[in-house]
Amino acid sequence: MPFTDCRSDTVLFFARLTTRLVLLLYVLLPPSLAAPRKIIIDTDPGTDDAMAIMLALNSPELDVRAITVVPGNVTAKQGLDNALRMLSLANRCDIPIAAGAQHPLFQKLITAEFWHGKNGLANIELPPSKCKVDARWAPDLIIELVHSSPHEITLVPIGPLTNIALAVEEDPSIVPLVKEVILMGGSISGGNSTAVAEANIYGDPEAAQIVFQAGWPLTMVGLDVGDKTLLSRKYLAQLGKTHGSVNDFIYKVAEFLIQLGEKFGDSGTPMYDPLAVGAAIDASIVTAPPMHVDVETRGEFTRGQTVANRHNAIEKNVLQHFPMATTTSSRAWNKLSQTPRSAPR
Ligand code: BDR
Ligand code: CA
Repeated sequence: MPFTDCRSDTVLFFARLTTRLVLLLYVLLPPSLAAPRKIIIDTDPGTDDAMAIMLALNSPELDVRAITVVPGNVTAKQGLDNALRMLSLANRCDIPIAAGAQHPLFQKLITAEFWHGKNGLANIELPPSKCKVDARWAPDLIIELVHSSPHEITLVPIGPLTNIALAVEEDPSIVPLVKEVILMGGSISGGNSTAVAEANIYGDPEAAQIVFQAGWPLTMVGLDVGDKTLLSRKYLAQLGKTHGSVNDFIYKVAEFLIQLGEKFGDSGTPMYDPLAVGAAIDASIVTAPPMHVDVETRGEFTRGQTVANRHNAIEKNVLQHFPMATTTSSRAWNKLSQTPRSAPR
């Protein structure tokens, strides 16, 4: 073999080795040193939405590309105002905030001021926002961002699934381009809106069925998981040790929720929406056995129920089955609270 060929082989060998080492290092690196995961949060803000958003904004593992607002806990108008004020409080006007659907696909809007306060933010009056609304319609913004970062965007819906369903209906080509969907919603063991339906799914069952059947990798962080992930007074006290505008806001939100829970004999408040963001930060905090899940849209008593095949069978008429998150203890919350992240500003 001529010397030059041999040399080029050696160069090639080292080039390949280097590539492999870099890849290996990339895989072995702790998540915080890897490139942050690009996420879009679709939200109905919302007390626990507020906590989820602030968690995401203060987690170096995540790169929040947009906040899109959906009606749910509060009206679309109130939710948008809340999102703007929160991003302004966090000094993050660089993140696009877009308005979307004004009501569910086929039913009336059901709001939840009792659980979230009159304004949705535990009745806390945040200063007027310095941030401006993005001119794009939320489903259009989602479509645009997915196309501009193919296979990189994780959708984190933490409200009813109206905007996500509208995006899929408008442009189904986004489905294979989305990295994954990690949503808060549903349950496999009883609901909070009705005996069987969880609020985000009950808020727009038809939209939920579109999202669950779209064919993308989907993790359902359900009500029954969130119920095991309680923020108790112990964690509230921990939060109260540091101060800053975001910190103090989140403290008051948590206090509101804990007090509300105590009226019903609960020892803490479930971290529903923050847990979905938590699973985007670190997938290992939940276990997600694959299951096929359908959303009941017609049942007389069961509308909005997430009907999960717990025997892990794949129905003959579906091409894909979907993972569902479950966790058995407060391990998730403990792990998250111990992970060093930048203090809320
Ligand atoms: C879900 O419903 C809303 O009230 C919360 O923000 C959360 O997204 C819990 O069922
Ligand atoms: Ca929510």
